[in-house]
Amino acid sequence: MADKIAKLVIEGHDPIELPIYSGTLGPDVIDVRTLTNHGYFTYDPGFMSTASCDSEITFIDGGKGVLLHRGYPIDQLADNCDYLDVCYLLLHGELPNEAEKSHFDHIIMHHTMVHEQLHDFFSGFRRDSHPMAIMVGVVGALSAFYHDSLDIANEKHREVAAHRLISKMPTLAAMAYKYSIGQPFVYPRNDLSYGGNFLHMMFSNPCEQYEVSPTLARAMDKIFILHADHEQNASTSTVRLAGSSGANPFACIASGIAALWGPAHGGANEAVLNMLAEIGDESHIDEFIARAKDKNDPFRLMGFGHRVYKNYDPRAKVMKETADEVLAELGIHNDPLLKIAARLEQIALEDPYFVEKKLYPNVDFYSGIIFKALGIPTEMFTVLFAVGRTPGWIAHWKEMISGPYRIGRPRQLYTGQKVRNLEK
Ligand code: SDX
Repeated sequence: MADKIAKLVIEGHDPIELPIYSGTLGPDVIDVRTLTNHGYFTYDPGFMSTASCDSEITFIDGGKGVLLHRGYPIDQLADNCDYLDVCYLLLHGELPNEAEKSHFDHIIMHHTMVHEQLHDFFSGFRRDSHPMAIMVGVVGALSAFYHDSLDIANEKHREVAAHRLISKMPTLAAMAYKYSIGQPFVYPRNDLSYGGNFLHMMFSNPCEQYEVSPTLARAMDKIFILHADHEQNASTSTVRLAGSSGANPFACIASGIAALWGPAHGGANEAVLNMLAEIGDESHIDEFIARAKDKNDPFRLMGFGHRVYKNYDPRAKVMKETADEVLAELGIHNDPLLKIAARLEQIALEDPYFVEKKLYPNVDFYSGIIFKALGIPTEMFTVLFAVGRTPGWIAHWKEMISGPYRIGRPRQLYTGQKVRNLEK
């Protein structure tokens, strides 16, 4: 039901009335769907001011640096919940009670193995393949194994596919890492926590016992929470668009992984570490700040800026605290990269260019420092972002598929040739 009406006055036309709707929080929206009846499209490259859907899952106030998942602030979830609590919250709208948690955790932690034949998929990749290339391939390939959960009109199938994806993403991610270093795959352990099991599959080997550090397992869990969902970002919008054609959930999540890979999106965490390594020393920071400000230089300060946040990304705050915890647990003091990052942040936050453009550290600025401290190679950073984001992608896919939806099909402003005939 429209709350207000917008009147669009175009010369030579009667005023076009467009309904305005209000949400629970955030800006009102103008419903422009009838514009095509008047021979017009809206024009919004990059979707800077376009609401693609309505959603109850996540709310971001970019000006205030607020991130809510089903109404709960991200820092409260990170401090008081575990990752599977947040997965349940994103999927079902409420945090699980004790019985719901026990049931959900058991399901997730008892579907962590992948079909044994999936192991063969890895041998088709070069050992030095980027692990994101492997993840796009093997996650899409899950639809070749799970024919019993591909009927998206069936609520049970949707639930089974959601559980399988959350369960198996860490296993596939760890397999991609093991494959790249020529070590045997490590089977999951159902007795460990989600974060602990991931570290086990990443760092165990058949020759020696690997003890999962509870502090590092908790840190891994917290990092997954910080990546769990983020409203209609590029990869989530990709998942929604793929889902709108009726594609199966495994194919939709594979499309989200592909979109996340770019350095402007999830690939930024890998790019931050490469940038910090390239800076190399605090004495070089000014040179890189100058390059970031130079219109003729394509270099950007990776890990800085955001389409929505025009204030500090609340996830970056928690990530920085977690970095301190992990480095302390590992006995890493005066980490040179952390020192460069902290100095870079301090300089950037004082520099008029960054202040005027409201460029603050985002979720990717500190995460790579933690991953590196955990012994995770730089190429794996975006894979971990994909693991963490899986419940968010699924929650948005499920929210769309569970109700009435139409195939997403944007239009364009055509600027090409007028009709012309082939000269015989
Ligand atoms: C993620 O959308 C999400 O929610 C994403 C995400 C999620 O959880 O899903 O939060 C995860 O993708 C975080 C962002 C990770 N990317 C990076 O850290 C890469 C570096 N950042 C930029 O590429 C950029 O800030 C974006 C891509 C994040 C945002 O780009 P926008 O919104 O299109 O902004 P813009 O490119 O139009 O920049 C506005 C201005 C420009 O200057 P002017 O043309 O106005 O003069 O700010 C400048 C840009 O040149 N600018 C930067 C900058 N980011 C923007 N200048 C230097 N360094 C930067 N990092």
